[in-house]
Amino acid sequence: MCGIFGIIYLGNKQIGKIALEGIRRLEYRGYDSCGIVVHKNGELYLRKDSGKIQEIQDKLKFDELIGNIALAHTRWATHGAPIKKNSHPHLDCKNEIAVVHNGIIENFISLKKELLSKGHVFQSDTDTEIIPHLIEEYIKEGIDFKNSVIKTLKRCKGAYGIVICYSKEPNSIIVARKESPIIIGLDKGKVSYCASDIPALLPYTRDFYILGDNELAILRPGDVSIVNFKNEPIEITKPLKHIDWSIDAAEKGGYEHFMLKEIFEEPNALRRTLKISENELKMFAKELMDAENIYITAAGTSYYASLAGKYIITKFLGKYIQEIECSELENQLLDSLKNNSVIIAVSQSGETIDLIEAIRWARKAQKNIKILSLTNVVGSSITRYSDLTIITQAGPEIGVAATKTYTTQVLSLGLIGLQIARERNVLPKEEIDSYYDALKSSPDIIEDFLKKTNHSIEKLVDNLEKNANYFFLARGISIATAKEGGLKLKEVACRFIEGYSAANAKHGPIALVREGFPIIFIAPPDESYERLVGNIMEFKARGGHIISVVVESDEIISDLSDTVIRIPQPANKYYNLFSPITFIPALQLLAYHSALAHGLDPDQPLNLAKTVTVH
Ligand code: F6R
Repeated sequence: MCGIFGIIYLGNKQIGKIALEGIRRLEYRGYDSCGIVVHKNGELYLRKDSGKIQEIQDKLKFDELIGNIALAHTRWATHGAPIKKNSHPHLDCKNEIAVVHNGIIENFISLKKELLSKGHVFQSDTDTEIIPHLIEEYIKEGIDFKNSVIKTLKRCKGAYGIVICYSKEPNSIIVARKESPIIIGLDKGKVSYCASDIPALLPYTRDFYILGDNELAILRPGDVSIVNFKNEPIEITKPLKHIDWSIDAAEKGGYEHFMLKEIFEEPNALRRTLKISENELKMFAKELMDAENIYITAAGTSYYASLAGKYIITKFLGKYIQEIECSELENQLLDSLKNNSVIIAVSQSGETIDLIEAIRWARKAQKNIKILSLTNVVGSSITRYSDLTIITQAGPEIGVAATKTYTTQVLSLGLIGLQIARERNVLPKEEIDSYYDALKSSPDIIEDFLKKTNHSIEKLVDNLEKNANYFFLARGISIATAKEGGLKLKEVACRFIEGYSAANAKHGPIALVREGFPIIFIAPPDESYERLVGNIMEFKARGGHIISVVVESDEIISDLSDTVIRIPQPANKYYNLFSPITFIPALQLLAYHSALAHGLDPDQPLNLAKTVTVH
């Protein structure tokens, strides 16, 4: 949430252009306002406003700014409405200190009172603005820039990724982090960059320093020194992390939207994820086989991936896995978390604060607990709190709605399940091989589906849009698909569409059904198929308009349906198990085209931002 970018050069350059490009690449983190401050020859030049980056660029011409330092910010509002005065950067009273910030300063009210009583004048309603004023106060006392920043941060409670410059120290910028991600990249001896996420730095480097909590970096042109500001500030030597993402993956590449591009990238993302090493899978499998209690936890789409993954792993592990939304983990396990438990934590970004807090709490509550994580981002916060991590290979996902990261998460959980099946010999080898073959075919099935079906989904949207409400219903493992489909529609198309258990829908939601009310049934031919037929009949009897998502050869449910979406995969139990991967692109496309039908930008849903780093 909120994208920040900082850059420092040796001499003056057209630096506004680079900073603009930096925040454009982070716009998925927030898009209600933005701003850039540039330092040139001892003065700060600030331009900011509310609106999308391109609109503000057209008005304020960020790209024309010249200087040797730039700090830039794209905002997702927390404290203060998304209006010009609340956009970042924020300055001190003398316009000498500039700050961009991602996170929340929880004790800002008391700090602001103190600063007001000392005569500071505030321009905004934000929590952030206390930071430049507090630094100003310490500098006034004769403390140097770095130590003023350290003193300030020590007084700030909450979370921050922060970049600061001071016009009287034009050869450095200071970057610090507590809980909100910051990465640093260098072009040795010439220029240093920092940002809140990898895509912003991909044009310049694939090798990053990842700042840890309570670490502060002083960036000079092409050089960095890092200290832990909580302790004695002794310089830390950090390894560079290499990230193998191509820059093309973070560009639209001819597609109208990132969301559509990322749906079409699913086959290749899955193929890359299939290459997760056997060694990593073995280590995960061993921990799960040894554990007495297993939980799987995540938020949003990652939570629905966890629901699907839990079904798959449980099938081969023969032990129950309890799914818990990460924001509820502490509440639910407060009195029952045991020492020999394993928590599987799933997160695309690896930065979702509710998840990080949940696993931090679990670690503290029980020393011998094991945290196994699945994330798409090398070096992300979750990796630091985990005993083992598997990196899914979706590549950068810029669309705010998770698509390819969902399918790669389910596939990774599927691989773990199959590794367990192998090690426990729960089935004859040929059967396990058949499950493997089915999982390995998922990229081809999706590729085939996308080639054939994009257009017919557009037509289905035309039909559905005439209705205010509808449901996605399913049973068994497909409930995860129904829920994820419903979430996609809510977020990108602003439709209140519910994904629900078909059986449970009789206990209330069926009250909504009238003649022509559409219901989309997710119906692979698995063990719940016959019961689902019963549910379809119940909805049909009340006039429901039945749309079904079925396999190619399906006959029974297709005959009962008014509209049918066919997924080109064989009708057998091996493929059914991985239908959460192969069936979801249909619903992702439905959400995408539905957003377009409503005149909405699917890449930038209202009120949302990617990577939720606030509670
Ligand atoms: C929905 C979506 C969110 C995320 C959720 C968790 O499309 O993207 O629901 O899934 O915020 O994010 P991660 O996976 O980064 O922890």
